Amino acid sequence: MPGVNDAVLSPPPPGHAGGPKVLLEVFGCQMNKLDAELMATALRRGGYDFTDRDEEADAVMLVTCSIRDQAEHRVHSHLGELAQLKQRRPELAVGVLGCMAQREGDALLKRWPSLDFVAGTRDFPAVADILDEVRADHTRVLAIEGAPDVRTPRDPALRPHKARAFVSVMRGCHKRCTYCVVPKTRGDEVSRPMDDILTECRALVDDGVQELTLLGQTVNGWGRREGRSLGDLLAALQEMDGLQRVRFITSHPEEMDDALIEAMAACPKAGLFLHLPPQSGSDAVLRRMARGYTVARYLQIVEQLRARVPGIELGGDIIAGFCGETEDDHQATLALLDAVRFSQAYIFRYSPRPGTPAWGRLDDDVPDEVKRRRLAELLTRQNEIMLERHRGMLGSVHEVLVEGASRRDATRLFGRTLAFDRIVFPGEPEWVDALVSVQVNDATALTLSGERVAAPVA
Ligand code: SAH
Ligand code: SF4
Ligand code: F3S
Repeated sequence: MPGVNDAVLSPPPPGHAGGPKVLLEVFGCQMNKLDAELMATALRRGGYDFTDRDEEADAVMLVTCSIRDQAEHRVHSHLGELAQLKQRRPELAVGVLGCMAQREGDALLKRWPSLDFVAGTRDFPAVADILDEVRADHTRVLAIEGAPDVRTPRDPALRPHKARAFVSVMRGCHKRCTYCVVPKTRGDEVSRPMDDILTECRALVDDGVQELTLLGQTVNGWGRREGRSLGDLLAALQEMDGLQRVRFITSHPEEMDDALIEAMAACPKAGLFLHLPPQSGSDAVLRRMARGYTVARYLQIVEQLRARVPGIELGGDIIAGFCGETEDDHQATLALLDAVRFSQAYIFRYSPRPGTPAWGRLDDDVPDEVKRRRLAELLTRQNEIMLERHRGMLGSVHEVLVEGASRRDATRLFGRTLAFDRIVFPGEPEWVDALVSVQVNDATALTLSGERVAAPVA
């Protein structure tokens, strides 16, 4: 779960530029990125335009994340800067949306007199109306009561990337992992109907999308309560002409079953990567987290996946220093890293969150310096594993979907392999959004480097 702060900017449709300018800043996970895209649609329809510079913005909106304390700190410090900007430019409208808005609600308006509106995770479709109201009447607005809406209209043409798009297949989460604030900020799980999803996917593919990423907190449990399975969606998308790749995040080990593994095996477009967070390598800790599986079951799923989808790579999330975690538990998590050899992993210190099942019930008893030490050990081990794996890939050739210029070096392109490995290589701007073959010739723990080759993908 990358910590991002990207402006969502899609090119204005012809004849549509020139309205008041909005700066949308996005924190948190892919759900927020997609919500920000949907907000962008609503704002465009409402006559607004976009900017990525706060000096020229008429409104700044922060789409926020509550997952860890630090994520919220970043937003508060940003609100401090915006309060200063607003002293110089009182007409600037400032809004907080997303998970933190949902969690804190009115408390945010009270803490920040400079804040004009707060809109929760189910209220963003109304964002243009809210902004109109704030700008016209100089009132302050709190909107956190929205009903779960899985049918937010989408303009397929308004998206930041030509060849890639996120599609929401479910909202909210019905699990109650004891550390996690998401069920509180995003509400209970609602799956979106299959026809609805496929119509949106078709429209996106017709408009040039080659890679779809289906989003849900427990995406592999999509439709279960309506008697459907994510496998039905994968089968339909495998048949969709023009679509090259389908990803889906995030999968929950408890929702993994034989039928879904078979469906993945029958869907080559699903590629060679699955994000399947284990959170810990200790059964005692998993029990306290209420994750609903054991380490043995997790490893059994991994083995089965690797047998049925040869070459599949796994991504993991790990929490270091959860309540009651002993040194033995920590060693068990290190052993899990060795056993699975994740191709990537997001590893963070446990951060107690108000309103979660653990809050006030489980003692946050691992001292911070121990959490930091365990985190460092996990990161070091995971880096070694990734470097070894990447070095083993030297000389191999991969099909790469080119995403754009490399952020570090504008003379190089950045793309992803079918196994979701990051790769940079010298290239021409016209290769962006294309599938090309790239041979790996160098590697760090995080990124591969290579050279485009004419040879077919091995
Ligand atoms: N629905 C997904 C994850 C959503 S949150 C799943 O079940 O896997 C993304 C990641 O943030 C989690 O996988 C977890 O590793 C991490 N996370 C969640 N709450 C946290 C907390 N209180 N402290 C530290 N990390 C946390
Ligand atoms: Fe949070 Fe657990 Fe739901 Fe994931 S499955 S969003 S970790 S409660
Ligand atoms: Fe995502 Fe953060 Fe909300 S991880 S669901 S934006 S709390």
